[in-house]
Amino acid sequence: MTQKKSATGSAASNEYVTLTDHTTGENYDFPLMPGSTGPKVIDVRSLYGQTGHFTYDPGYTSTGACESQITYIDGEEGVLMHRGYRIEELAEQSDFMEVCYLLLNGELPNKAEKEDFESTITNHTMVHEQLSYFFRGFRRDAHPMAIMVAVVGALSAFYHDSLDVNDERQRMITSHRLIAKVPTIAAMAYKFSVGQPFVYPRNDLTYAENFLHMMFAVPAEEYKVDPVLAKAMDRILILHADHEQNASTSTVRLAGSTGANPFASISAGISSLWGPAHGGANEAVLAMLDQIGSVDKISEFVEKAKDPDDEFRLMGFGHRVYKNYDPRAKVMQQSCHEVLDALGIRDEPLLKLAMELERLALEDDYFVSKKLFPNVDFYSGIILKAMNFPTSMFTVLFAVARTVGWISQWKEMIEDPTAKLGRPRQLYTGPTERPFVPVSKR
Ligand code: SDX
Repeated sequence: MTQKKSATGSAASNEYVTLTDHTTGENYDFPLMPGSTGPKVIDVRSLYGQTGHFTYDPGYTSTGACESQITYIDGEEGVLMHRGYRIEELAEQSDFMEVCYLLLNGELPNKAEKEDFESTITNHTMVHEQLSYFFRGFRRDAHPMAIMVAVVGALSAFYHDSLDVNDERQRMITSHRLIAKVPTIAAMAYKFSVGQPFVYPRNDLTYAENFLHMMFAVPAEEYKVDPVLAKAMDRILILHADHEQNASTSTVRLAGSTGANPFASISAGISSLWGPAHGGANEAVLAMLDQIGSVDKISEFVEKAKDPDDEFRLMGFGHRVYKNYDPRAKVMQQSCHEVLDALGIRDEPLLKLAMELERLALEDDYFVSKKLFPNVDFYSGIILKAMNFPTSMFTVLFAVARTVGWISQWKEMIEDPTAKLGRPRQLYTGPTERPFVPVSKR
């Protein structure tokens, strides 16, 4: 059996698997497609046509929804790569603008390409002045994620000139606009919540410096960006930039597969990220640490997390894919120590509590046997709190960083000639056909 080359030209193969339907004795062959690394996939696109059956995989634990060349994760080994570069090396040696270029274009930029990209992003950081009126419709105590969902989606009302998803130039302009404007909108959401005036972006600052400036500068005095915090911010953005086909990225791909404009698709991704099982976990980790309160209470909460009848879970622990340490968590922990040392708060009680919680959990057979390790969210909240971000802004920061991953994956899907409208099927277990009974007879 030979296969057509896939959209992105991944190696075709003559390998296949055979499914036997023991109710009929029929055998069905399905192609086994190799990637460049990692698990092969069984191409079941013809399964319903051949067998009349659907596959069944709620939560998509064993389902490859697409082909991609952007990010690779090996959950067993705790490996994360973007376009072949290990996250540890990117976090240590690169910067967020380079990683954005890499995710969008597939290669690291040379000096001229990097300068041109940074200049393009910098010159798109301002938002239409009318956009500021959206904020007045919210109460001051609105969760900033609610504002992000609304205002990022509303960008589609301002950029009619770049909504043609089939135009390559417009797709790139939209990608640049989203990467550039989401931090501006995020900072505006924070300023609105604290009743301070919006701070315009500045073209003489780096991406991370600009974000900190828009967040924490006030008109009454000059704001000096702390280089340690700017470096930590840049690294946090790198660590959250993309992560294969996670829930919010899959949401963006599904929304985009209908032809919905990219601003609306990214807004859908922000909504999906908000959940505590996903991007909302960093905010939930801080709430959990506050709830635990002190080292002597840790064991009580670890027991609660192990109790199948107790819905409490250790937030920042466990992962659908990583059954080993999340490599981002290790880098984040290292950054945590660096930032707290630089800020002179090395004795931060929350960090001590988190480290003791991590130690006790990783010695407990329940977590070891279920391969529950700290994930990217476990330490990020402690750094962000130390940097004076309110916990309500933690998931917003995740969205700021993940926008480049979302738009890169969206662009890859739009440019894939084999991409189709996403439309899963189901196992129906509801009532079979029955005649309608008028209310007078019920
Ligand atoms: C992110 O997908 C991504 O890539 C996401 C992300 C990204 O960058 O996009 O990496 C970002 O979302 C990180 C994850 C952040 N979420 C949390 O920290 C929330 C706490 N974690 C859990 O809710 C949970 O671990 C999930 C949701 C992350 C993963 O859960 P799964 O894969 O659906 O696994 P499961 O719920 O079936 O758990 C398997 C077992 C269960 O016990 P049993 O039913 O087998 O007895 O492990 C237990 C669970 O009860 N378990 C936990 C636990 N996580 C799983 N028990 C206690 N504490 C936990 N945190």
